[in-house]
Amino acid sequence: MATDGAGMRTDTLKIALLGCGTVGAEVARRLDAHGPELTARAGAQLELAGIAVRDPSRRRTGLDPALFTADGAALVGRPDVEIVIELIGGIEPARSLLLAAMARGASVVTANKALLATHGPQLYEAAEKHGVDLYFEASVAGAIPLLRPLRESLAGDRIRRMLGIVNGTTNFILTRMDETGADFATALAEATALGYAEADPTADVAGHDAAAKAAILASLAFHTRIRVGDVYREGITAVSADDVASARDMGNVIKMLAICELSADEQAVSVRVHPAMIPRTHPLAGVREAFNAVFVEADAAGQLMFYGRGAGGAPTASAVLGDIVAVARHRVGQGRGVGESAYAQLAIRSIGECVTHYYVHLDVTDKAGVLAQVAAVFAANGVSISTVRQDGHGAEASLVIVTHSATEAALAATVENLRGIDAVREISSVLRVER
Ligand code: HSE
Repeated sequence: MATDGAGMRTDTLKIALLGCGTVGAEVARRLDAHGPELTARAGAQLELAGIAVRDPSRRRTGLDPALFTADGAALVGRPDVEIVIELIGGIEPARSLLLAAMARGASVVTANKALLATHGPQLYEAAEKHGVDLYFEASVAGAIPLLRPLRESLAGDRIRRMLGIVNGTTNFILTRMDETGADFATALAEATALGYAEADPTADVAGHDAAAKAAILASLAFHTRIRVGDVYREGITAVSADDVASARDMGNVIKMLAICELSADEQAVSVRVHPAMIPRTHPLAGVREAFNAVFVEADAAGQLMFYGRGAGGAPTASAVLGDIVAVARHRVGQGRGVGESAYAQLAIRSIGECVTHYYVHLDVTDKAGVLAQVAAVFAANGVSISTVRQDGHGAEASLVIVTHSATEAALAATVENLRGIDAVREISSVLRVER
């Protein structure tokens, strides 16, 4: 490593890029276009040494064809490469390439939420063992500076709870359903036409994407290890236009939330991803379209909200480039950034133990005694009713019941028992209500 009289590096710091999709291409172009600025900030000249892609012969506008290779392993193995950026996604070959890079002493930056949420501990351990950085700001909520605030700015505080809108596709769909009265299928079709939803939208609408992000957020916020398999998950496909209208009538809005909570005794966490009603007055209710936001409640800081674009080439590249500069600064200063903090080793609460409020919509026969029967089932399971509204339609009626706080297990037992009442024709909806 060459230095000047003041100890500043005068050589270049070489970067390898794995993947050149929307985000990768944006990172490469911005590294080139903003080279002098980024060099000044990093304290060493940053140079893109190569880009590994499946098809190197494909032309990418504005990028030097000589940079491209199909051999990711060889690029990562180059002894002059000090930072490896992984933007290919998926578990393999991303995991093997990052482990190989770290074993050789390179620092790594990744946007790979699935990898972090599944093999995070293995990657952290490799970073620790080889004395390198593992940064992944772009893996959750795209452009929003969120992981560094959790890992660093809030490291002196105690986070109690986080409520996040961390999936833009589902937020777009629910926003459209709320604003136009559309059903799920119509709103999904619009999201697909506008490019917000993938051709196969399962990862987003079934909550897999949000669950991986929730695992990463909870691990950082609570200093413990949470994997995606620990996250309870429900998607938004069953949310109906009627649910959205009922929420509106009640002064609520339905959002797909990632909820990470520390238990009152501070011995356990619960992490869950599902649609829920929130009051229209909650700061998250105003997060519309494909925007993301995470609302944090901490002992000393109080309430915080992080808001911005959670996806897209340029917004995600912003987070990747921030990590590149941070990691480069550490290499220039021969230091390291923050590593894993998982000392707390908290237990993980099952969904049955989680406590919240519920909205239950029943179609019933409208005759004397039905409301009493229904109320008795709630009472028998220890679920206290907060409000009841009945709308009659001839011989039938719909009952909309909102409960006080109760465990998921008690609510599930209530719903099961309600199915056994002859006068209950259908339980058309059960939704959580977050306060
Ligand atoms: N598909 C995600 C979303 C973005 O809709 O927010 C990438 O995680």
